[in-house]
Amino acid sequence: MGTMTVRAGTPLQAVQEAADKAGFLFALDLGARGSCTIGGVIATNAGGNRVIRYGMAREHILGLEVVLPDGQIVTSLNKLIKNNAGYDLKQLFIGSEGTLGVVTRAVLRLQPAPASTTAALVGCSGFDKVPAILAAARTQFGPSLSAFEAMWPDFYDFMVANIPASGSPLGGKHGLYLLVEASEFEAGREVERLENMLAALMQAGVIEDAVVARSNGESKTLWSIREGVSEYRRLLGKVVSFDIGLQTASIGQFVEEVRTALSQRWPGILSHFYGHIGDSNLHIVTNLPAADATAQKADITRLVYDRVRKAGGTVSAEHGIGTQKLPYLSYSRTSAEVALMALIKRALDPRNIMNTGKVLPLG
Ligand code: LAC
Ligand code: ZN
Repeated sequence: MGTMTVRAGTPLQAVQEAADKAGFLFALDLGARGSCTIGGVIATNAGGNRVIRYGMAREHILGLEVVLPDGQIVTSLNKLIKNNAGYDLKQLFIGSEGTLGVVTRAVLRLQPAPASTTAALVGCSGFDKVPAILAAARTQFGPSLSAFEAMWPDFYDFMVANIPASGSPLGGKHGLYLLVEASEFEAGREVERLENMLAALMQAGVIEDAVVARSNGESKTLWSIREGVSEYRRLLGKVVSFDIGLQTASIGQFVEEVRTALSQRWPGILSHFYGHIGDSNLHIVTNLPAADATAQKADITRLVYDRVRKAGGTVSAEHGIGTQKLPYLSYSRTSAEVALMALIKRALDPRNIMNTGKVLPLG
């Protein structure tokens, strides 16, 4: 099995490129690959675009070296897949957002590199079609399904209009756009399989239109619409954004309710919905063109999180809690869960010096 031992400051993209050069895949991927470090990826248990196939950062880590708040160095650079010798200590630090220790090195788990990967952009009438499309993709591709992303029209039209050199690869307008990606170990196979699956869905009236990328360049073009999210700050300035998790089946109705509630309260508000729908993870980006959205941030946030709480969802699917979501941790975790987190924090960091004020409301 392939492993790679890296220092925490290594950029994600450098890890990906080194794995590639050695004939492997480091499968965790996200838009910020060029600037984010592996230490940050681990501290936040980052997700990204391939979680449906390979899991979040946690799944890619075999061992860690960390510095504890008291200065002790714990070197636990395990390389074994199976190691049940006591507690799995690395899990304490993955996703702890730097509140329990500082990650200094990591042993990463590499995957066999697929021979080829191709994306398809699909237009359908709305979210009610997603369960059938997702089920078809899972059945057709099994573990080769490597991404299943959704973009609602507000998001899609905005990106198509603003991201240079893209334009819509589909002729018409649709109620929902999906980006479906498959990776195969037999080169070229995924194009044919994607086309067959999409043709059957089209014939059954489940989807309205689709385009399958025939090269890496075409795949990149399809992804560029989705990855336009990295341009939000440049395009809109201040935005109020969300990273929530909900049962997949309830996401469609949730989106309609939130969009309606937002525009009733703030006429003219922009609300863009997109996300890793195969992982039950929805992102929302809001912006008030006429006003400073951040002035309304608390109210917009409460409007969204009240509904997340009611739906039994999470206020953070992949971005973590930090300081901004700290007041809402209890929306998604029981008091017993929060108390156990606080117990661990106090045991490891009794003087509360590690990323003080993040994640937990400590009294
Ligand atoms: C994304 C980041 C924002 O999915 O999580 O684009
Ligand atoms: Zn995301």
